[in-house]
Amino acid sequence: MSGVTVPRSFRLWWAWAGAALLVALWLLWLPWWGAGEVPVPRGTLTILIWHWPFVSQSPELPSDTCARYGVPHCRLSTNRSLLASADAVVFHHRELQNRRTQLPLAKRPPGQPWVWVSLESPTYTHGLNRFQGIFNWVLSYRHDSDIFVPYGRLEPCEGPAPPLPAKNGVAVWVVSNFHETQRRVQLYRELAPHLPVDVFGQANRRPLCGNCLLPTIARYRFYLAFENSQHTDYITEKLWHNALTAGTVPVVLGPPRATYEAFVPPDAFVHVDDFNSTRELAAFLVGMNETQYRSYFTWRERFCVRRFKTWEERFCAICARYPHLPRDQVYQDLQGWFQT
Ligand SMILES: *[C@@H]1O[C@H](CO)[C@@H](O)[C@H](O)[C@H]1NC(C)=O
Ligand SMILES: *[C@@H]1O[C@H](CO)[C@@H](O)[C@H](O)[C@H]1NC(C)=O
Ligand SMILES: *[C@@H]1O[C@H](CO)[C@@H](O)[C@H](O)[C@H]1NC(C)=O
Repeated sequence: MSGVTVPRSFRLWWAWAGAALLVALWLLWLPWWGAGEVPVPRGTLTILIWHWPFVSQSPELPSDTCARYGVPHCRLSTNRSLLASADAVVFHHRELQNRRTQLPLAKRPPGQPWVWVSLESPTYTHGLNRFQGIFNWVLSYRHDSDIFVPYGRLEPCEGPAPPLPAKNGVAVWVVSNFHETQRRVQLYRELAPHLPVDVFGQANRRPLCGNCLLPTIARYRFYLAFENSQHTDYITEKLWHNALTAGTVPVVLGPPRATYEAFVPPDAFVHVDDFNSTRELAAFLVGMNETQYRSYFTWRERFCVRRFKTWEERFCAICARYPHLPRDQVYQDLQGWFQT
């Protein structure tokens, strides 16, 4: 007799347990269906972009935006209604600096991480003293940023390097923001008598169209990859795109040689600090023979240039770093940190 009753009560127990589990799952999903058009799966991080950088109209952000950059479980949104629930909120400095946008300090949920974002150099960054003790994380080109997003990097790549473009000029410089106070302008003025330099760009009323930039630069042996100002880790597309992608040798003015060597092989560029005088630098460039010139391109046998071009990709990096980001950190002196 007991051999029949025991299995029956077991079956009853399993039926109850199964029903309870279904109800629990349904209750868990319920709030997500109410939230927006597309339910956000549990475990997905929501990154709220308070103001899209530089433009008033933000781009479309399909739900698979970050997955396309290899970052799953990450949703970017510009919907400010998500302030109460976002896992992090992103503020791009330019719009704070020119007061196109304000920080929603009064509505900030307790403990919500706020991310300060800027890819500009400290020289062209103003008003940081208004933002002391507010931000938890920094996204910038500085290597010691919480979310480190360089302008580019070298990545191992397969297959033979493309042939070097044919050269018929010595040195070229593309510049739009040209001021006598800039170190790069002083250096150019000293170099020009000893080195033939063709200058393109707004500064010289010889702008290059987007598709003309690389083919034009490629015809020269050297590109003056002079940063507009010299700061910690401030290395921009002037190195990655204008010089390395074009297939020319960068002559760099920026942070010290050691910083460049942290990103590219030591024999991939000429650093202006390697010379005791500008005249010496010019003589070195003009006198370089073909064997020595070609040795600057050894990196191309193993690496390709990878640039980080879109804001979507940069913001998705927040999710990739999220598990490792410090929870209780506040930049009490953002200005002091960034301006050093
Ligand atoms: C913004 O989010 C809120 C809350 O989830 C939602 O009700 C609203 O439809 C969203 N707005 C847009 C434009 O997607
Ligand atoms: C610069 O000057 C120092 C000391 O005078 C000398 O040892 C060094 O070789 C010079 N560098 C170059 C690149 O000529
Ligand atoms: C090219 O220049 C390098 C460095 O100055 C020198 O060592 C080499 O002998 C030169 N090669 C030729 C073929 O002139």
